[in-house]
Amino acid sequence: MDNRSLIDRLKDTHSLEREQWIQLIDTFTDADREYAADTARAVAQGIFGHDIYIRGIIEFSNICRNDCLYCGIRRSNTSAERYRLDEDEIISCCDAGRRMGFMTFVLQCGEDGAYPAQRLAALVQRIKERHPDCAVTLSAGEMEYADYKLLREAGADRYLLRHETASEEHYKRLHPASMSFSHRMKCLEDLRELGFQVGAGMMIGSPYQTSGDLAEDMLFLGRFRPHMIGIGPFIPHKDTPFADMPAGSYELTLFILSLCRIMLPHVLLPATTALGTIRPGGREQGVLAGANVIMPNLSPDEVKKKYMLYDNKICTDESSDKCVRCIDLRLERIGYRPVSARGDYHV
Ligand code: 5AD
Ligand code: FES
Repeated sequence: MDNRSLIDRLKDTHSLEREQWIQLIDTFTDADREYAADTARAVAQGIFGHDIYIRGIIEFSNICRNDCLYCGIRRSNTSAERYRLDEDEIISCCDAGRRMGFMTFVLQCGEDGAYPAQRLAALVQRIKERHPDCAVTLSAGEMEYADYKLLREAGADRYLLRHETASEEHYKRLHPASMSFSHRMKCLEDLRELGFQVGAGMMIGSPYQTSGDLAEDMLFLGRFRPHMIGIGPFIPHKDTPFADMPAGSYELTLFILSLCRIMLPHVLLPATTALGTIRPGGREQGVLAGANVIMPNLSPDEVKKKYMLYDNKICTDESSDKCVRCIDLRLERIGYRPVSARGDYHV
């Protein structure tokens, strides 16, 4: 089957065989990518119109016990200047975000032992009391079932935990031996069972990734059916073992975004900061390829530069309200508008 027919088939059946995914990934042309983007954009517009959900991300600690080889805030990076916001500082960011129109707060951190589930749960509860009409999304890494349960009971609505790669062999090349693929997958299952809206996802072009690995990612996403999918290109960070590895492909990232939209029409799909970092206008192209979420950074200006997962991250010199205005303009130029709404997953 030719690539266009595969894209049509994906639209009709919402699934492809492993070999078909590999064919698409290995042989797509610019014309195929445009065809997928046109299809994906029509699917997204049919469901969301020209509305883009905005989520305010608060990076509240870059202290991390893990040592993922790709990540700039890995434990072994002694050059990273570490910080941790306290509860009052985080709540100020939420309050400021609410005034700017945000109705989802994404609390993201490294796996910081000083923020165990109990402490996070108390924080979530405080935020939900102040902003009962808003959604709280956590992105705080791997925990045990009982911890996630506490967080859910405290009122957390959503949880982002990228699976990073659906191939166990590949997982082992991206992570130290102390981390396990099976535990990560169990976390995703636990989160789903607890009633979170769950986000999975992967980097495009992470070191050693093959088209077979990416095919496994697509098969996994089609099976697991997450509510959200975070996808961006791998971008090397100078103080990691992957410093000299090439960045992921911009075009392949856009193509995969479109294929995700076509496979899972209702999925909440951000145009990520990493996509905007490898190419000016990348986030806008992400929207035109089927993304329907943008996540501006609401972290305090002083810490923005310290949450460097990869080199040259955009928006770290800009104030949060400047980014909000910038995103308004960027969306307006392509005929979209940011909406102030929780933007929950709906079928
Ligand atoms: N390049 C791109 N994305 C990265 N992430 C971590 N390090 C990098 C990098 N070097 C992504 C991971 C993680 C998310 C928070 O950021 O996929 O889950
Ligand atoms: Fe941050 Fe444009 S969105 S500077």
